[in-house]
Amino acid sequence: MRIAVPREIRAGERRVALVPESVRKLVKAGIAVSVERGAGESAFFTDSEFAEAGATLEEDATTLYAGADLVVKVQAPALNQALGTHEIELMREAAMLLATLVPARHPDVVEMLAARKITTFAINLIPRITRAQSMDTLSSMANIAGYKAVLLAANHLPRFFPMLMTAAGTVFPAKVFVIGAGVAGLQAIATARRLGAAVEATDTRPAVKEQVESIGAKFVGAVAEEAQDASGYAKDLSAEFYRKQAELIAERCAASDVVITTALIGGVTAPRLITAEMVRAMKPGSVIVDLAAEAGGNCELTQPGHTVVAHGVTICGPENPPAEVPWHGSTLYSRNLTAFVLAFSNDGAFKLDLDDEIVKGCLVTHAGEVRAARTAPKP
Ligand code: NAI
Repeated sequence: MRIAVPREIRAGERRVALVPESVRKLVKAGIAVSVERGAGESAFFTDSEFAEAGATLEEDATTLYAGADLVVKVQAPALNQALGTHEIELMREAAMLLATLVPARHPDVVEMLAARKITTFAINLIPRITRAQSMDTLSSMANIAGYKAVLLAANHLPRFFPMLMTAAGTVFPAKVFVIGAGVAGLQAIATARRLGAAVEATDTRPAVKEQVESIGAKFVGAVAEEAQDASGYAKDLSAEFYRKQAELIAERCAASDVVITTALIGGVTAPRLITAEMVRAMKPGSVIVDLAAEAGGNCELTQPGHTVVAHGVTICGPENPPAEVPWHGSTLYSRNLTAFVLAFSNDGAFKLDLDDEIVKGCLVTHAGEVRAARTAPKP
C-alpha cells in the first residue's frame, strides 16, 4: 500500500496529516509513503526530514494523488484552485481517503466521494471507545483549541490574568467563565488556572462537575441527568432548562472578564447560549472566545473566522485553532491517524473489516455508496 500526504490547501491550515516520526513507523511496517514537496513546511517539518524518515517526495499534487492507495489529509477534500481540479478528481477511482469530514456540513463532498467509489474514513467519527483512544483526533485537537483559546483571550484582555503584588499595588486575578467543559473546556480551565485566573465553568452533563472541580475551578449552574447520549455526547434539553441556564449565563458573563464557550450538541451543533443582550451587559474590555464558531457559534454576535468588538466586548470566533499550533497539531493528528492505519494493516496492506466497530463508525463512503456514518443536523 502507498499512502500519500498532500499539502493542505484550505486557507490558514498549517498542519500536515503525517509527520516524519509517523512516516518512519509506517515505513517500518512495510507501507510506502509519498509526501508532496513542502507539505510540512508551515508546521516546520522539512522535506529532508520526510526523506530521511523514508518517504518519497513528489513535486506536485497530481502525481502524488495518482499514485496513492490511501490519501491522508487534515481537512476534507476541496477544489484545488491552483490546479482548477477538485482533490477528489485527483484521486484514483476506488482509492481510500482518511481525513476530517463532517458529512452533515459537506454533503456535496460525500456525494462526490461516493460517485468516485472512494472508501472514505472520517477520522473525527471514530467511536470514542477504549480501543480507539489512540486514534481520537477530536480529543487531541480539542485539547489544543482549549489551550489556544485562553492565549487568545489573554492577548485581547486589557488586564492581567494572574494576581500580582506589585509596588504599585495589588492586581486581582482575571475572572474566567468556561461554558461547556468537555475536552476543550477542561483544557481551557487548566490553562487559565496555570495563568493564574479565577475560573468558573458550567456544563449540562452531570459527570462534568467533578472533573471541573478536580482541576481547581468552581462549577456553577444546573446539570440534567438526561443530558448525555449513549456515546457520551450532550443532548438537546428542554426549553425550560435552557431558560434557567440563560439566567445563569447572563449573570456569570456580566461578572467575568473572559468567557470561553465550547458547547456542542451531538458533537456537531452549537447551541445559542449568549445573546446580544448578554454581551451588552458585560464589562467593557471583556473578551469572549467562541470555540464553537465553526459550528455556527455559541454567541449570537460571533462572526466565524473573525474578531469583532461589540458593546465594548471583543468576540473572537476562531474557526481552526489547532492550525495555530501547527507543530503539535500535526504531531498529535499524525499519531492518531497512524494508530488507525496500523490497527487495520497487515504486511503493509490495509485490511478493510466492514464488521469492525471502529470502521463501521467512521466509514462514510464505500463501493459507490454513502454508508451509515454518524450524521447530525446542519448547524
Ligand atoms: P463536545 O465538543 O461535543 O461538547 C463540548 C461540551 O459542551 C460538552 O461537555 C457538552 O456537554 C457541553 N454542552 C453542550 N450543551 C451545553 C450547554 N447548553 N451548556 C453548557 N455546556 C454544554 O464534547 P467533547 O469534548 O467532544 O466530549 C464529548 C464526550 O466524549 C464527553 O462525554 C467526553 O467525556 C467523551 N470522551 C470520551 C473519550 C474516550 O476515549 N472514551 C475521549 C474524549 C471524550
